[in-house]
Amino acid sequence: MTYIRSVGSTSTLGKQSAAQVLRSLNGRIAVQVSRPGFIGLQRHFTTSRTTMIKEFFPKPDSPSIRVTEAAWPHPVYTTEQMNQVVVAHRNAKNWSDWVALSMARILRFGLDLATGYRHDPKLPAATQDGSKAVVPKTFMTERKWLIRCLFLESVAGVPGMVAGMLRHLHSMRRMKRDNGWIETLLEESYNERLHLLVFLKCSEPGWFMRLMVLGAQGVFFNAMFISYLMSPRTCHRFVGYLEEEAVLTYTRMIKDIEDGKLPMFAKMRAPDIGVHYYNMPEGQRSFKELLYYIRADESKHREVNHTLANLDQKNDPNPYVSEYKDESKPHPTKDISQQRPKGWEREDVI
Ligand SMILES: [Fe+2]
Ligand SMILES: [Fe+2]
Repeated sequence: MTYIRSVGSTSTLGKQSAAQVLRSLNGRIAVQVSRPGFIGLQRHFTTSRTTMIKEFFPKPDSPSIRVTEAAWPHPVYTTEQMNQVVVAHRNAKNWSDWVALSMARILRFGLDLATGYRHDPKLPAATQDGSKAVVPKTFMTERKWLIRCLFLESVAGVPGMVAGMLRHLHSMRRMKRDNGWIETLLEESYNERLHLLVFLKCSEPGWFMRLMVLGAQGVFFNAMFISYLMSPRTCHRFVGYLEEEAVLTYTRMIKDIEDGKLPMFAKMRAPDIGVHYYNMPEGQRSFKELLYYIRADESKHREVNHTLANLDQKNDPNPYVSEYKDESKPHPTKDISQQRPKGWEREDVI
């Protein structure tokens, strides 16, 4: 069964959140569902007019190539490990931590404002069959969740790339070893970009959203560039705090789905790009299950960056790619078999 639900918007440019402005600028919003079981490659939410929708990432014209694998294969996460991911906060212990925490809170506030994010745990759940959920307009609807995820992931891939690039240049310029940090940082930004690609397969951003992403990337890249040159330790702590917020956001999103507040998300299956990247097992390929993988990734970034912030930035090797003399002792790993939400202390890993 195919149907299109259109929502008209009459809001004006006044005292509104950016999300409301976005809605009014883009006019009618089309939500398409082709069948309850969900279609992998089709847009479900869009801020573009229906006539402007086009397929993202069309297959390249390369008849000799069968498949192009991910350069960094994703580590295997088990369901049990992903369920162990928890919301956590590392207390600020010195001035550098306080600067990082303040900056993360400011960014979170700006992001909440830009994406119209407002979470209410008391939001009424859906009716029994999930078909007629009554969701107040001001709270997190499925469309607002997708706008938030798109915006969040579009900036999340910046810090790892800036840090990796600067350490790469530093190593060449100063003719010094990097001790294995660069690859982990670049892999983190690659992983964040994959998150973005996954959400792009579920929604189509309009021109206003694209403009916001463009501006945010320009500002954030340059701010990170300058900041990392001044204090890499503070930058890693800042990313650690940002990732704490990302874990919280995805935990709330998953909870809203499980509470029946987002009935369409509950029916959606994961886009193919996510299924391949995470190697999701047959029968466990729903959108909600994909969010468990993404949340686990964010928890890994949280741990990695808090750990890196605890190390000597110039001399310590990266514990996430190191082999330990005593492998029986707990130590950092690339997967989530050893989870330390607040990061590893230097004396435990070096
Ligand atoms: Fe992410
Ligand atoms: Fe992240």
